[in-house]
Amino acid sequence: MALWSGRFSNNPDETVREFTESISFDKRLYKYDIMGSKAHVAMLAHEGIIPKTTSELIADELSHIEKQIDAGNFKYDINLEDIHMHIEQALIDAVGEEGARLHTGRSRNDQVALDVRLYLRDAVKSIIDGLNDLQKAFVETANKYKNAILPGFTHLQHAQPVLFAHHLLAYVEMFERDKQRFSESLKRINVLPLGAGALAGSTLPLNREKVAELLDFPAISQNSMDTVAARDYICEFLSHAAIFAMHISRISEDIILWASQEFSFIELDDAYCTGSSLMPQKKNPDIAEIARGKSGRIFGNLTALLVMSKGLPLTYNRDLQEDKEPLFDTVETLEKILSVFPGMVATMKLNVDNMLQAASDPALMATDLAEQLVKDGMPFRTAHHRVGALVKWCKENDKQLDELSLEDMKISIPEATENCLSLFSPQESVAKRLSTGATGPEQVSKQLQRWEAFLLDN
Ligand code: ARG
Repeated sequence: MALWSGRFSNNPDETVREFTESISFDKRLYKYDIMGSKAHVAMLAHEGIIPKTTSELIADELSHIEKQIDAGNFKYDINLEDIHMHIEQALIDAVGEEGARLHTGRSRNDQVALDVRLYLRDAVKSIIDGLNDLQKAFVETANKYKNAILPGFTHLQHAQPVLFAHHLLAYVEMFERDKQRFSESLKRINVLPLGAGALAGSTLPLNREKVAELLDFPAISQNSMDTVAARDYICEFLSHAAIFAMHISRISEDIILWASQEFSFIELDDAYCTGSSLMPQKKNPDIAEIARGKSGRIFGNLTALLVMSKGLPLTYNRDLQEDKEPLFDTVETLEKILSVFPGMVATMKLNVDNMLQAASDPALMATDLAEQLVKDGMPFRTAHHRVGALVKWCKENDKQLDELSLEDMKISIPEATENCLSLFSPQESVAKRLSTGATGPEQVSKQLQRWEAFLLDN
């Protein structure tokens, strides 16, 4: 018989039990459920709502149940629907009638909100730590190859030479914003929902401030209907996760391209690649591919939750039980990505010469030539036009920009001087970029130092 069976004459049909259960996935919440129940009974005793001896008896048995679950010795049964019922039933089975005082002044509606908030605040903190480690791996590799130069791309076309470290640090910036988004969301997650009851609060003199203190919640929800109905803190987490997954997918794409034979910019360590079952020569960048692929399910989880919630009238509806699988899946997927990605990035090797060779095409310095003309007094649009004409002339005459004599150059740029002839080394091109945030080695060294110091503190 279910704990709610009082007004029923029949048990639910087997198909109904299968359909409505959530224990198969919400068992992940057991530690938080127990933590919440312990705080709840301590408060009930503190307020004289239940005897102190009962509260202690319940807390002891809850610890015992937790150990059983930890050790894998706990029996799950879909007849008990969810983790809340499992733990409460196990308690009552163990201590008898006194255990039936646990659920005083509480509904599963505020209980599940509590469990998920406790779970999510831990998950978010560990994801932030994981992101920090990921950033460290990027900074480590950037430092190792401080002087490496590769072509920077726009439209996936060679654009201008940049430092490889600069490219990696672009992702470190993105991950920092991801971290900020996650950590800002903590203040909305970290709000005590318990005490809202099913939707209207309780006639019992609950002391929510006490529970908040015991569970280390800096804030308490202020509207009981909002408390049991809202899932925006989960949507928010899933959208921050989706943005992070999009970043991971982009660096994965870079890595996959760099590791291809066409680019040959990097070699991934054997420990972070897999082979083909048919083609003996293959070494595939599967980690990056799977990470790129996983972004799809993470975006899907956000969509699932938004669509599930959008038509729900206040307050709690059972549909809300469907928030958990997308949430757990996203947390676990991020944890997997964060466990493997830093190692892949920290162990990759650069083909520094290939990169430099690709960046040495003098055409990549065409902008430097236009800017030299600007320094010599020409308006930029005119300079851009003249250099464009020169590039066209080079193409038609099968020449490279760095092979031209001053006379050649003057055909398209009558104003050209000697200053225009020695601009075509990628090292020099990079070295001249001095303003904040540019790819010059001075700037990039500064940024590397800033990140090293910052990440060490975090
Ligand atoms: N398993 C449910 C969920 O995840 C717990 C809350 C159930 N509440 C209810 N009144 N049936 O949402």
